[in-house]
Amino acid sequence: MTDQAPAPYAGPQRVLSGVQPTGDLHLGNYLGALVKFARLQHEIETFIFVADLHALTEWVDPSKLKSNVREIAAAYLATGLDPKVANIFAQSAVPAHAELAWIFNCVARLGWLDRMTQFKDKAGKHKERSSVGLYTYPVLQAADILVYKATHVPVGEDQRQHLELTRDIAAKFNHDFEAPGFFPLPDALTQGPGARIMSLRDGKVKMSKSDPSDYSRINLTDDADAISQKVRKARTDPEPLPETLDELKARPEAENLVGVYAALSGRTAQDVLGEFAGQGFGAFKPKLADLAVSVMGPIGGEMRRLLADPAEIDRILAAGAERARAVAEPTLAEVKRIVGYWAG
Ligand code: TYM
Repeated sequence: MTDQAPAPYAGPQRVLSGVQPTGDLHLGNYLGALVKFARLQHEIETFIFVADLHALTEWVDPSKLKSNVREIAAAYLATGLDPKVANIFAQSAVPAHAELAWIFNCVARLGWLDRMTQFKDKAGKHKERSSVGLYTYPVLQAADILVYKATHVPVGEDQRQHLELTRDIAAKFNHDFEAPGFFPLPDALTQGPGARIMSLRDGKVKMSKSDPSDYSRINLTDDADAISQKVRKARTDPEPLPETLDELKARPEAENLVGVYAALSGRTAQDVLGEFAGQGFGAFKPKLADLAVSVMGPIGGEMRRLLADPAEIDRILAAGAERARAVAEPTLAEVKRIVGYWAG
């Protein structure tokens, strides 16, 4: 590994993040990522994209990809991203991501990628049948981030390792090409109770779109009835809620529901326990269901309204892509010059 001394990056601060267009978004995506996008856009220049290049690492029906992209864009808008404030676009509309990813493929080491747990999880037992793209997925993710020289990346806890790899790639590039401080070493923003939302059926596995049980997650498009039913049916234990967070540690389902309540209400988990300590889930779940319906219900409705006008979503994505290209292309041109390309 290269010298990891912090590079003196002196450029502007930028936020960047993305979501893959691979099926329904759920409460974990919302609390781990989307809710933070809407907040950060008012603080720092923000780039939020739909990761349609990443989507291809596993099979996606070509006739669905475009509508999946629009659905994620609609979710961004419905959860409060303002296209006049944030740059919202599709990854495939900015070719600089893929070009920089190639250069980063030559910077990242095989040993670094071999450690990526997401690849191991997704590839499962049949690694040799996975696409090469799935393996180099985190390198493209590093390019997504660094082509904008982003300094802050709001993501859920599961993306932490990819962010560490991004920092390693940035540091090695800066070092090997004698370009100190060219790329920032971006920070993962994973703080807060929503960073790792667990399945409603099993508090030991994360909420995920690939879980076969729809009762394991609340989808952004679920209506009020579905949301309350899923909360009511969520797995719990017979004990009342305790007074301290420590006492929740051995009760993953209870800990998760308290965390969801905290994240949805913008309070700390300790604060939630302060209100509900001594009460059982018979009392807690209806309160949680009401809260979830009041926050999530309107999002699904707004997404449906936005999706009724796909041309407007396409206009927003096109305008966002133009602004994104205006930032990404100069970075790529600089990188080409730094690495000594004939066309650089
Ligand atoms: P994706 O599409 O799997 O998930 C989108 C975001 O949702 C977060 N998330 C969760 N947060 C809390 N609890 C959960 N159960 C949960 N499940 C998912 C993810 O952490 C993520 O923030 N690799 C990314 C997409 C990506 C990206 C990037 C992100 C591509 N390039 C550059 C940031 C920067 C992904 O697969 O997200």
